[in-house]
Amino acid sequence: MYLTPEEISWLGGDAGTALRRAMEIVVALGAIYGAERLVLVESVQISGVSYRNIGDAGLYFLQCWADEGARVRVPTTLNPTAMDMVAWEDQGFAPDFADKQRSVVDAFIRMGVGDGELNPTCTPYLIGNRPPQGAHVAWAESSAVAFANSVLGVRTNREGGPGAIAAALTGRTGDYGLHLDANRRPTLRVEVIAKPETISDFSALGALVGALTRNGVPFFTGLHLDADDPVREEKLKALGAAMAATGAVALYHVEGVTPEVRDGVLRIAELPNYTIEDVTPGYSALSDDVDRVDLVWLGCPHASLIEIGQAAEAVRGQHLRVPLWVTCARPVRDIAVRQGLVDVIEAAGGKVYADACLAISPVYDLGIRTIATPSAKGAYYLRNLAHVAARFAPLDMCVEAAITGAMPWKVV
Ligand code: F3S
Repeated sequence: MYLTPEEISWLGGDAGTALRRAMEIVVALGAIYGAERLVLVESVQISGVSYRNIGDAGLYFLQCWADEGARVRVPTTLNPTAMDMVAWEDQGFAPDFADKQRSVVDAFIRMGVGDGELNPTCTPYLIGNRPPQGAHVAWAESSAVAFANSVLGVRTNREGGPGAIAAALTGRTGDYGLHLDANRRPTLRVEVIAKPETISDFSALGALVGALTRNGVPFFTGLHLDADDPVREEKLKALGAAMAATGAVALYHVEGVTPEVRDGVLRIAELPNYTIEDVTPGYSALSDDVDRVDLVWLGCPHASLIEIGQAAEAVRGQHLRVPLWVTCARPVRDIAVRQGLVDVIEAAGGKVYADACLAISPVYDLGIRTIATPSAKGAYYLRNLAHVAARFAPLDMCVEAAITGAMPWKVV
């Protein structure tokens, strides 16, 4: 692999132990995947932030790196934490857990992550981090990676936790995978005959396509996503997040919509063809056989202002019997507060929490056993990471469940 003289000196430890360690990781990953050089990255998004997931070993690893003088050299943001960093008590989490979660975040702050404005989120692109088309970045959160590659036309692999930190410390990543033109071409065509309408329908579609695509690059035809659709971006966000969960899709293209196809950058060759005639099986594939729920979760990936507005309209004037939590980035919540949307949700008995992701939270310890969500990715990880039962259903059914406590099985 070609390295510049500066990169060689960092690798030799001339700029300190922390940077040497980071260079070793970046170079090792590049060598494994056959990179011929490193590329400079414009931004990094780090995952592995939940104390519940990384535990004391992960916390110690981060603290040691910070103690050694690790400092990020490109704008870097954090994935969600396990709790709202301000309202964790209101969520019901224990003080000792909150202390540990705060220590994880403190280690990242000492590395310079967030540059004084730490807003943990899986949707950095909703709070201003939207690199220009063609830019190289190193993002780790799978749904953000799918959005960045596909909707923004940015180039990133699906970085792992330590790999993303190493990229932030060096400002570099290996030039392999989706950084290269050859790997951005579609590998299968998905002809959508079904007519997905809502954001959750796009999530259900993604659940089906992710499972059949695995780590391929789907090219969608037949998807109706008009330029003036006010929730077009939310639908794409949901589609990519679901495919990243049930498969390992990091890039997809939509005919006439996503930038690399729209701009004619890609040549679409003969491809294996699949058709999707109905998205309903996507809902049932990620639902447990339960008819009552303990909590309703909206905001996976973190909710946009429009999605918080939809939630507010759905619960306006209602009295919720089951807790309904919306999760989002803190700057989005701040705007929702100013627009009165949070008041509407709270008046009905719901909550809008920042920073947090329930799939990586110890929600089981709060006595929660079943969660309804209109997100395929949310349902997938609630079942596989949070170890609670999940019902993946359209927004109106989830809200109905919050009002009545009951959830009819059938998704229509
Ligand atoms: Fe974000 Fe957590 Fe969903 S990281 S995409 S809210 S599973």
